[in-house]
Amino acid sequence: MDINGSVVVITGGGTGIGAAVAKSLAAEGAKVVLAGRRIERLEQTVSEIKDDGGEAIAVQTDVTSEDDVSALMDKAVETYGSLNVVLANAGRFADSLMINTDKATGKVKTFMTTEQFKAVVDTNLIGTFLTLREAARRMADNGWEGLLLITSSINSTGQIGQLNYSSTKVALTLWPKILVGEFHLKHLPIRVVGVSPGYTATEILKGMNEAALEAVLKDVHVGHLVEPEELASTIKHVITNDSIDGTTIEVTGGLVYGPRARAK
Ligand SMILES: NC(=O)c1ccc[n+]([C@@H]2O[C@H](COP(=O)([O-])OP(=O)(O)OC[C@H]3O[C@@H](n4cnc5c(N)ncnc54)[C@H](O)[C@@H]3O)[C@@H](O)[C@H]2O)c1
Repeated sequence: MDINGSVVVITGGGTGIGAAVAKSLAAEGAKVVLAGRRIERLEQTVSEIKDDGGEAIAVQTDVTSEDDVSALMDKAVETYGSLNVVLANAGRFADSLMINTDKATGKVKTFMTTEQFKAVVDTNLIGTFLTLREAARRMADNGWEGLLLITSSINSTGQIGQLNYSSTKVALTLWPKILVGEFHLKHLPIRVVGVSPGYTATEILKGMNEAALEAVLKDVHVGHLVEPEELASTIKHVITNDSIDGTTIEVTGGLVYGPRARAK
């Protein structure tokens, strides 16, 4: 699949990884549709792309809303005439231990609320489902060759304090295999690939205090956070290499599990 001329929709496209992918693909001639809740962040990224000579539009979208996601895909087709690559990247976390006990009394002081659990499931699972379904429907109905991309996470291996987030991200690593099976059955030329970033230098992690960042980096073989541009280059490779399909690729800088725990 060519990047030049392809129509690409990216959710969570105004910031972080989504914005880096958008800029990188637009620089190679893709027509990019950026979706997210915060219109000012989307418009900022669109104007940066346009300043560099690229083509992009912003569509305010809450990925948990069926109507919003359907309207997003329609807008992409109406504006650019097709739909080729869709990156379901919008994601959120709401961390807490499931039950957190008080040091002094040993009794439960706080716990992960049902709302905290559901909010993460709604965005990361329902949002990704709606994004992929509404894109795939239009690709299939029009006979377009397509690529569905999913931003999973290395946290799919299970992170303390992220029962909600890790549960959603591990589920997403299964989707490329399931969906490619379904598309194969129905002879649809739509590939599905997940990308699992490790600790990535977006706003959340850059805001970490120095000691916490140093501790995190002790577990990363290459010794630095993954740059959003490194994920963008992985995605460019996936777009142009048709043999990458039905799988999830880890981009972690060689994240090693547990050395700090063992060293104690
Ligand atoms: N930064 C990391 O270390 C890291 C590691 C692994 C996975 N990820 C995943 O990468 C993806 C991008 O994260 P990021 O690091 O760029 O952080 P980010 O916070 O910049 O990006 C997340 C984006 O999703 C958007 N979003 C959240 N809920 C939404 C909703 N309901 N509708 C529409 N948009 C919504 C946010 O507004 C934001 O633009 C996420 O799925 C995240 O889980 C990030």
